[in-house]
Amino acid sequence: MSIVAGVSFVRLVPVALLVLAAGCGGGGDKPAAEPAADAAPAAAPAAAPTDGPDPAVMAAGQEGYAICQTCHQADGQGLPGTYPPLSGSEYVSGPAEKVIAIVLHGLNGPITVKGQTYDNVMAPWGALPDDQIAATITYVRNSFGNKASAVTAADVAAVRAATASRTTAWTIAELDAATLR
Ligand code: HEC
Repeated sequence: MSIVAGVSFVRLVPVALLVLAAGCGGGGDKPAAEPAADAAPAAAPAAAPTDGPDPAVMAAGQEGYAICQTCHQADGQGLPGTYPPLSGSEYVSGPAEKVIAIVLHGLNGPITVKGQTYDNVMAPWGALPDDQIAATITYVRNSFGNKASAVTAADVAAVRAATASRTTAWTIAELDAATLR
């Protein structure tokens, strides 16, 4: 927990919201994921267009996930202290363009996911085609207990275009400040 002291205000805000949403105190057995999904401003409305993404897209996404699972694990739980979880992650179910931007350009430096702080590096996967990135993210956003809107190749193309000048992995502060589409 001592690492948390080094986390900037920017990243503490969502955590603080989660704590509030969870009602603080005693019964802390409920994971913060559900309120996070509701609180994410750009996430689709509760009963999203995600009754279930196209099964063909989910199948392609599951194949694409082979890359991610090296680190984030087959069950999306990550590895404590090293690889953050995708299951229940406030990032995964948050605004789609941020997830796309992370996959395109990678991520670097401290990030707090489900109350745990990680400080590691994720390599960029922008060399993959838009449709593969879209399917993989759609799969991740609708697996491991996650439920969020599907991502299209056009969404990926838009973020790719808007972030074309990016040559290094994001920090979370940079990602939060960036215009992603
Ligand atoms: C080589 C290991 C590795 C691979 C492969 C990898 N990641 Fe990551 N990922 C990481 C690390 C490490 C972080 C945290 C980086 C940091 O600490 O700043 C991360 C962070 C993330 C995050 C934000 C934090 C969270 O847990 O929600 C998302 C979303 C994500 N990765 C998605 C993916 C997807 C989708 C793929 C497959 C296309 C993928 N990653 C492949 C290592 C990896």
